[in-house]
Amino acid sequence: MTKEKVREIIEKNGGRAENILAMLLDCQYASYEGYVDAETAAHIAHELGLSETRVFELLTYYAMLQTKPQAKYVLMVCNSSPCHFTKANEVTQVLEKQLGVKLGETTADGLFVYHYTACVGACDIGPVIKVNDKVFGNLDEGAIVGLLNGLRDGTIEV
Ligand code: FES
Repeated sequence: MTKEKVREIIEKNGGRAENILAMLLDCQYASYEGYVDAETAAHIAHELGLSETRVFELLTYYAMLQTKPQAKYVLMVCNSSPCHFTKANEVTQVLEKQLGVKLGETTADGLFVYHYTACVGACDIGPVIKVNDKVFGNLDEGAIVGLLNGLRDGTIEV
């Protein structure tokens, strides 16, 4: 993650060390592979005037924080209100059926994990899944299966 992105997340959370958990979670959700890498953790420590050891203690203490890549593809399902009304919950049902894992669990082949995210700015094409910086919208079961297959065989690049 770029230093600019980390700084943006720190500022969004008020720039105060007491908000470090929210910052770490935001960094995790913003990362492509769903974890806080060592460089990002060190940058947060530096920006907040904390020791790197303290930040790593937090990262390893809280189970919700990940220090290793969760999967090759982290599928972020928007569940903010507009997408919720376009049946974002059905998207996760299809993902569970197709991938055989629940929200937040990684598939055995290490390819996929999926979780909820806040609005990604594509409300007009909900429900949506964001993978890296790409947003896939108007998702029904067929489109989701197509997306998963495309990511698996490389015909869809993200
Ligand atoms: S509410 Fe889902 S993209 Fe905006």
